[in-house]
Amino acid sequence: MSNETTETDAGTEENDPQDAIDAQGDRRREELDDRIFEHSAGDEQEGIPFVGAGPGNPRLLTVAGKELLEEADLVVHAGSLVNSELLEEYCDHAELVNSVGKDLEELIPLMRDAYEDGDNVVRLHSGDPAIYGAALEQMDALEHEDVPTHFVPGVTSAFAASATLRTQLTLNEVSNHVAFTRPQGKTLSPEEDHISDFVEMGDVTTCIYLGTHAVRETMDRLLEDDHDPETPVAVIYHASWPDEDVIVGSIGDIADRVEEAGYRASAMVVIGDAVTGAGYERSYLYGDWANRGSSGSAGETEASDD
Ligand SMILES: C[S@@+](CC[C@H](N)C(=O)[O-])C[C@H]1O[C@@H](n2cnc3c(N)ncnc32)[C@H](O)[C@@H]1O
Repeated sequence: MSNETTETDAGTEENDPQDAIDAQGDRRREELDDRIFEHSAGDEQEGIPFVGAGPGNPRLLTVAGKELLEEADLVVHAGSLVNSELLEEYCDHAELVNSVGKDLEELIPLMRDAYEDGDNVVRLHSGDPAIYGAALEQMDALEHEDVPTHFVPGVTSAFAASATLRTQLTLNEVSNHVAFTRPQGKTLSPEEDHISDFVEMGDVTTCIYLGTHAVRETMDRLLEDDHDPETPVAVIYHASWPDEDVIVGSIGDIADRVEEAGYRASAMVVIGDAVTGAGYERSYLYGDWANRGSSGSAGETEASDD
């Protein structure tokens, strides 16, 4: 596919990010990127790193992320969900640009030009860039313009929430699965909203991103679908930030509590029995599995790796 061009306001010709995304998609369908087999997550790599800032507390940034920020000349960050303390602490001499309100047409040339000028550029996403981060479209647009990119993972907010709750998202005999999801709205149609399906499964911990403003609608839908109103729900606002707040309730009453607290954004909604951590059974790992030694099958070896 050719690189189609559009006129920008400045009158210069720029690549159209949508064309770049389509072209990169076509390439992926044809063959896998060689770098997949050459590099591991955490390796030093050339190009622009897409770094996960973690949930907020600067101490929850990875070592790799910290080193990259300390070397950066330009940091394009995800606005209010990236703690300004982290930017102050690690982005010593970097120019800081907030990406909120900027479209790809603005962000891509900004990062490309700085990189081509020899600057160390870091794209900083909140939590982990692979979760509701819209990172790949930026990476594809940059790669299409011969600017290499790579991921540097971060601690996603659901993990900070579970640490705050002092529980596990998976818990023997309570929760065997975790769903990272979001509620219906502008991006997701009602048919694509699977929160009720996950809750219905019974042994899933459902972590809802981007749903603080819609707690009441979400809980109302669960009640309409006849889910137990007593099912535990926690809403963790700003997990790991100094103003972190934890609201614990149930499908039946959490909406009132969240409305009373006044939160409309920046919280993780966790549904399921793992919220309380009650009722789990000891695992095989430190019981029967441990006593079987290393002579087990491949499946057993994998289980004992946990
Ligand atoms: C655009 S998504 C980005 C998620 C991010 N990539 C991650 O891995 O956490 C933003 C949503 O993540 C959740 N979120 C991000 N940081 C949070 C935090 N510190 N505490 C609670 N929820 C958070 C909220 O649900 C928020 O609406």
